[in-house]
Amino acid sequence: MAESLNTRSGLLSCKLQRLRNNYLDLLQSCLTGSIYRDLPQSLFNLNSFDPRLREHGLDWPAQAQTMIGGKRMANLRTLMESVIAENVPGDFIETGVWRGGACIFMRAILYAYNIADRCVWVADSFEGLPAANELENPADAGSTFHAYPQLAVPLEQVRENFRAYGLLDQQTKFLKGWFKDTLPTAPIQQLALMRLDGDMYESTMDALTNLYPRLSHQGYVIVDDYHGVSACKAAVHDYCDANGIHPEIIEIDGVGVYWRKFDTTRHDRVSVAPSHSDMSDEMQISLLNEALFELSWTVITYLNQSLTGRDGEIARLNQSLADREGDVARLNQALVDREGDVARLNQALVDREGDVSRLHQSLTELQKEVTALYSSNSWRITKPLRSIGHIIRGSRGNDDKVRPPYTIDSSMVNSPITRDISPKLIWEDDLRLKINDVEFYLSIDTDELKTRISTSDSFLLGKPKHLVEKAVTIGQQGRIDKIFEMGILQGGSIVLYDQIFGPQKIVAIEHALEPVEPLARYIAKHRKSHIIKPYYGVNQANRSAMEKILSAEFPNRDVDLIIDDCSHLYEETREAFNISFPYLKNGGLYIIEDWAWAHWSGDYWQKDHTIFSGRKSLSNLLIELFMLAASCPGFVKDILVEHSVITVSRGDEELPAGPFNIADHYLLRGKHFGAWL
Ligand SMILES: C[S@@+](CC[C@H](N)C(=O)[O-])C[C@H]1O[C@@H](n2cnc3c(N)ncnc32)[C@H](O)[C@@H]1O
Repeated sequence: MAESLNTRSGLLSCKLQRLRNNYLDLLQSCLTGSIYRDLPQSLFNLNSFDPRLREHGLDWPAQAQTMIGGKRMANLRTLMESVIAENVPGDFIETGVWRGGACIFMRAILYAYNIADRCVWVADSFEGLPAANELENPADAGSTFHAYPQLAVPLEQVRENFRAYGLLDQQTKFLKGWFKDTLPTAPIQQLALMRLDGDMYESTMDALTNLYPRLSHQGYVIVDDYHGVSACKAAVHDYCDANGIHPEIIEIDGVGVYWRKFDTTRHDRVSVAPSHSDMSDEMQISLLNEALFELSWTVITYLNQSLTGRDGEIARLNQSLADREGDVARLNQALVDREGDVARLNQALVDREGDVSRLHQSLTELQKEVTALYSSNSWRITKPLRSIGHIIRGSRGNDDKVRPPYTIDSSMVNSPITRDISPKLIWEDDLRLKINDVEFYLSIDTDELKTRISTSDSFLLGKPKHLVEKAVTIGQQGRIDKIFEMGILQGGSIVLYDQIFGPQKIVAIEHALEPVEPLARYIAKHRKSHIIKPYYGVNQANRSAMEKILSAEFPNRDVDLIIDDCSHLYEETREAFNISFPYLKNGGLYIIEDWAWAHWSGDYWQKDHTIFSGRKSLSNLLIELFMLAASCPGFVKDILVEHSVITVSRGDEELPAGPFNIADHYLLRGKHFGAWL
């Protein structure tokens, strides 16, 4: 009989403990907000619930009643259960309660263990933290907690929170005010556990100073912010050092710590007898069942409300998603429309380009007809057509329409074939020439050519007078429309040829990198950028650079005149001939200037100080050209050798396809030509 009674009471106490656990577990997850996945406050900039943060009390919940997290709540429960089990006498206090969550939990633990003769003290300003008193508590210097309105929770709200859990009664006592004012006179006899959560040196020190002496032997001190706020830790150590206390500090969760008080002066103290009421286990079970039921109901109601709230939120999000999708669809449509516009504009552009190229084509044909008429014998009867030719060239941007009036110069009277137009050359002396509004200064002095520069008013021309006259003669013998020149120097020759020939195109290359500024100004002033094209930094023997320019500028290989006044070195001049000769049109002229430097009279060019010292004579190329003319008269029609200039006339026979090399075309009876001079 006695055995079955024992079994029954064992079963009841097991059931009671299980109920306590269920009730306190559920309450803990309500108070921390984990059960609702309560979001952190907006100042944390986190838009979702993170269980790890909440477990360690590292965020401030938006709705829930405590911010200390699951681990510190569990620690509070363990220590309370310990003092209850060991009958350590005294009440329980938290200094710094915020929304009261930890205190509500303390009160609930008393309820679960049916303890009616102990209180929970709830101490707080209920207005937030105090501003730092840096003079008295230098460790608080810089503290900004007082500026957080989120930390100021009014007393009425905290009471309301207790009430919501059915735990607001006489066993909960509120101490409103700054700790320094309330704690010294608080009517607390004895404490079994003190939980300090005031976040500052001052708050921690005030709590220790006023409450630690009232803490029972084997009672607990919990310091919530020991690792979270260094001032708090400093207060603990200052207090302990000052009072000769050497606590064994135990970690809770990396933030909070606790220690147990052992009061050696009272080691013989006997624990008070358990003061539980006489309520039977059945009765307690029934009360706890009721409390658990009510709590569960509260949770379910709250969860329902929050579900409704979430549903509303989902509906709002769905609506804004639908709106966004509408926007995206509209933007897509606008994009499609724009693409249509772009395609239409592209098509119109292509059509216009077609029109322009057709117009160019018909202009070119008209130009050819006019040119043919120009060179026909019926010059006088084609006068009206000549006017048309000028107009056509003018419409292409060619400045021919403003060409200067041409007169017959006395120096040309003896020319074998004269044209009835020629530029007016005014020689002030043998070195100074004027054509229209352009002046030239002629020089063949090597030193002067190196130092003198062109200006906008006067171009330096590295040629003697007779070469200028030769150019005029060439212009009279036939139309020179396309010119390729090697050696720009100071741009004088380009301007000279432009003035004398009025060509369609002059392309020139120069080894020097620096563009000739007066030449650029001349081109801009006369709007001839489509006619005069200087290329700088090009070596005449650089096949790839030369080919690139020639093939781009003269794709029809119809150059009328090529003038090489460039390096005057045998190898380079020969390679330039190989590259550019195929671009000369049938009947075109290839002029190489200063071919005879190795043979010039006097002793200047016969000594070793000149730029040509040690170099093969350019006359070697003359010999090869003669041999070419002899072996391939169809390639070279004739060669005119003058004392400083050689003029090669292109024959009518097509050159073979592929790169041209003069050495492949003269016959040598099986011998090799190796530049003898
Ligand atoms: C971090 S909160 C406490 C959190 C709370 N223990 C919990 O469970 O969520 C700090 C609280 O301490 C209070 N407090 C801090 N220093 C105080 C002081 N010297 N006097 C009165 N209240 C103080 C603040 O008003 C605030 O409510």
